[in-house]
Amino acid sequence: MISINKLSKSYEDKSGSQKVFKNLSCEFESNGVYSILGSSGSGKTTLLNLISGLDSFQNGTIEVFNQNLNELSVEEKSALRKKYFGFGYQFHYLLENLSIYENCLAANFGVDNGNIDVTLKKLGIAKIKNKLPSKVSGGEKQRTSIARAISKKPNILILDEPTGNLDQENSLIVQDFLLDYAKENDSLVIYATHDISFAKRAYKSLNIINGSLVEA
Ligand SMILES: Nc1ncnc2c1ncn2[C@@H]1O[C@H](COP(=O)(O)OP(=O)(O)O)[C@@H](O)[C@H]1O
Ligand SMILES: [Mg+2]
Repeated sequence: MISINKLSKSYEDKSGSQKVFKNLSCEFESNGVYSILGSSGSGKTTLLNLISGLDSFQNGTIEVFNQNLNELSVEEKSALRKKYFGFGYQFHYLLENLSIYENCLAANFGVDNGNIDVTLKKLGIAKIKNKLPSKVSGGEKQRTSIARAISKKPNILILDEPTGNLDQENSLIVQDFLLDYAKENDSLVIYATHDISFAKRAYKSLNIINGSLVEA
């Protein structure tokens, strides 16, 4: 379970301070699918980074499986991510010198428990498994980043705009896949999107409006 209590987050830089969240509170149960909606610049990526312990905040608390992120060192946060989290980012961060299959394998510490090929097939990218990321399309990279994120079957799957680069047909394939994944594995899935129809398919849809979360 993830619990956020009275969180405030601002970015400070030379041009001044920019408030992204003010007194934000919410809870994510340990299983279920949650979508984060919000216009561009509303703070979707920031929220996902905060939950994962990748970004710092000024006030409030975030607890992940009863561990208070405020009290963890950088190394402890990294260990927490390794233990519980899988990530599919908006920018794919695939390892360019590894094939699509090897990228998935690396994310599970070199172990193939038989799931990778099944996942690649379900996502419609089995035929490119031996290609390097530079030789596949943006949409194929996006699906690879999802396959990679789930290769270790994480308890918490965090996805930033997982259908952002996909056409309608592939977007629906990915949506169905993620919803099935959450159900089959009893996982917590949190995804950011600005696609309202996709957001509505979640168990709970949360909208970021003026730095607060409102149930949509
Ligand atoms: N590293 C950063 N430094 C300063 N401002 C940032 C940084 N990252 C994001 N922002 C600002 O914070 C706001 C929220 O950004 P972001 O979380 O990326 O929004 P979204 O993902 O919803 O498009 C935006 O106004 C953005 O410009
Ligand atoms: Mg974003």
